[in-house]
Amino acid sequence: MPEIVSRGRKPDVFACGFCHRADGPGGPENSNLAGLPAVYIVQQMRDFKSGARQTSVPQRNVDLMISLSRAASDAEVEAAAAYFSARKPKAIIRVVETDTVPKTYVTGWHLAAMKTGEKEPIGPRIIEVPEDLEQFVSRDARSRFIAYVPPGSIQKGQALVASGGAGKTVQCGICHGADLKGLGPIPGIAGRSPSYIVRQLYDFKLGARAGIGRPLMKPTVERLTMEDMVSLAAYVASLTP
Ligand code: HEC
Ligand code: HEC
Repeated sequence: MPEIVSRGRKPDVFACGFCHRADGPGGPENSNLAGLPAVYIVQQMRDFKSGARQTSVPQRNVDLMISLSRAASDAEVEAAAAYFSARKPKAIIRVVETDTVPKTYVTGWHLAAMKTGEKEPIGPRIIEVPEDLEQFVSRDARSRFIAYVPPGSIQKGQALVASGGAGKTVQCGICHGADLKGLGPIPGIAGRSPSYIVRQLYDFKLGARAGIGRPLMKPTVERLTMEDMVSLAAYVASLTP
């Protein structure tokens, strides 16, 4: 494991493994890096650094990601990219369609289920929580997640992915590979955090994410509603990565 992943470099570059976990699965509050194409990782670091990739929700941990991308050297980025790219992505998310979800609170930039067992309607949301909060907070890379999604969303997402929804979007498999596990420099989206997926679709649409790859994603997101994004994310998260 490269030093930059395990320890970072003081004072400006936080260890990648602290947030993305030792072998890259990350969590809903950041991103899974395991198995992403190395060239893609390097390009995203450049986009963060240049300011082309921002976030629609500033004052979150993405700000830290952006500031460390400015301080990391090319050699450090190359080493981290090669390391994470060589890790095998794991299936760690269970997607569950349901009307009611545990009440949640925000901790460490992600949601956690309240211990009281109280429930509330899911509404149009995705509620993604660690199965074992303590295990996840102690940065165990084997942590697993439950993503509650609205009833019917997986099938709606599957239809959009497969058909493009009669011009509403573009068939994802054309670029992300038939199994959505990635193609050449294009990242896989199968089995990834649905919270992360929705944030990215939203940021591509609104223009907060405007790196060199955005023109390719723009026709895909332009006409998507929030509900479509939730359905797409529910479906792709349910696939094997
Ligand atoms: C403080 C926590 C934190 C640290 C430390 C951190 N990241 Fe991140 N990283 C994030 C967050 C948050 C995101 C997701 C941004 C979003 O949701 O738009 C992210 C996203 C990324 C992405 C985009 C992934 C994708 O699929 O597009 C890459 C690549 C990345 N980080 C690489 C690194 C590398 C390399 C390091 C170490 C040099 C690192 N990160 C350290 C928080 C962190
Ligand atoms: C014409 C090609 C193309 C099509 C079709 C396409 N994508 Fe993409 N997608 C890309 C490229 C290229 C990127 C990387 C963008 C960048 O570098 O910022 C990307 C990135 C993404 C990301 C961000 C991944 C990450 O790791 O941050 C998500 C999520 C995504 N696409 C979802 C979808 C979905 C869902 C569909 C189908 C509804 C789709 N894409 C269709 C080309 C495409």
